[in-house]
Amino acid sequence: MDKYVIRGGNPLHGDILVSGAKNAAVAIIPAALLCDEECIIENVPNISDVSICLRILYELGAQVDMLKKDTYRISCKGVRSFNVPYESAKQMRASYYFLGALLGKFGKARVSMPGGCPLGDRPIDQHIKAFNALGARHCNDHGMIDLAADKLRGNQIYFDVVTVGATMNAMLAAVKAEGLTIIENAAKEPHIVDLANFLNSMGADIMGAGTDVIKIRGVKYLHSTTYAVIPDQIEAGTFMVAAAATGGDVMVRGVIPKHLEPITKKMKKIGVNIEEFDDAVRVWVDGPLVKTSIKTQPHPGFPTDMQPQMATLLTLAEGTSIVTEGVWEQRFRYVDELRRMGADISVDGKVAVIAGTGKLMGAPVKACDLRAGAALVIAGLAAQGVTEIEDIHHIERGYGDIEEKLRGIGGCIEKVSSPSVRVKKAL
Ligand code: EPZ
Repeated sequence: MDKYVIRGGNPLHGDILVSGAKNAAVAIIPAALLCDEECIIENVPNISDVSICLRILYELGAQVDMLKKDTYRISCKGVRSFNVPYESAKQMRASYYFLGALLGKFGKARVSMPGGCPLGDRPIDQHIKAFNALGARHCNDHGMIDLAADKLRGNQIYFDVVTVGATMNAMLAAVKAEGLTIIENAAKEPHIVDLANFLNSMGADIMGAGTDVIKIRGVKYLHSTTYAVIPDQIEAGTFMVAAAATGGDVMVRGVIPKHLEPITKKMKKIGVNIEEFDDAVRVWVDGPLVKTSIKTQPHPGFPTDMQPQMATLLTLAEGTSIVTEGVWEQRFRYVDELRRMGADISVDGKVAVIAGTGKLMGAPVKACDLRAGAALVIAGLAAQGVTEIEDIHHIERGYGDIEEKLRGIGGCIEKVSSPSVRVKKAL
């Protein structure tokens, strides 16, 4: 079992480069199934969720070639299978995008119910509602979701909740359906726009992505493309918070500052200095951090995927902050781990009250999900002493080369596997 060992207390300094967005890449890679030629996808992050997506494509019969560390050529012309088994799908939530992509390609799909971070109830009723509206029948057969349509036809889809996954899945299924699909109450995250841009670059006809009404006129054929995934705003935000939490001065490069606005605004409010450039943000701290209130919401609200990291920063601020989780039922499971590091946080349902203590101390902790793990990395970098984080496979799902990147700005973080730790102890 690998773990991160972090010696905290060093202010981070220097330049750090952000990779492609996980939540865009995990939809764009399955979307390659819809391409009738081959496509090249650039700026693909080096994370385990992407490896799983690429492996599923390969198992379905696609040809997948790595051209560079972050660039893949994908040809799905030879794909005949529409079956994504449990072993592959259970490993990540985003396996549900194979439902929409395979349905769009073949008019049928058989995909295991998805896995992913344990954040409370994660239904997929809105995904199914969209597939049904387009003419697909569905059934749950021993943990496998079966979809089949005689013909996919455009339709009006109204989502009862704002959902990223169902919005993207509806786009994937509708892009080659006959006629016009109108998605209402659509999610507006930057990765929704990125998926639409990718599909449009192959000849799809999608308008309105980034607003709450998306119109898709079905096309018969999608041609080849070369497309670069947008930068990951959550990875960028995580590095921004790490810079602030350690009292450092960091230039976070390769970002789209507009995508970071909900994060930037909150960080400025608590006293962090942020200067925006064309494709970079400089983050530094030269005074005390102060309390605030945060409520996570769908974009353009404050992103839930930054909630644990910001809560960690608020443990270092003066005063009592209130953090309300507005998207997921259970996204405070990391709080017990932060308490081990000296944080004073109480949780009541979806609300956390954080009494800033101004400091954290190193401790052995466990990552319980991806962003919880990112929060513990930040806490470890800011804390006095040594923090050991177990279950880092959660972190590797969404942060590529995180130790190298953080070491590049002065973070003292190392990945060690337990056997070598045992050897060291024995010595
Ligand atoms: C995506 O999850 C992200 N995952 C999550 O990122 C992110 O937290 C979430 O969007 C919100 O931004 C991927 O993109 C792979 P939703 P998703 O559908 O699509 C309810 C991370 O850390 N809902 O927008 O699964 C649901 O229960 C992860 O990177 C239904 O009720 O989220 C939730 O309360 C974790 N029925 C809300 O909508 C449905 O059919 C938003 O979920 C679907 C969702």
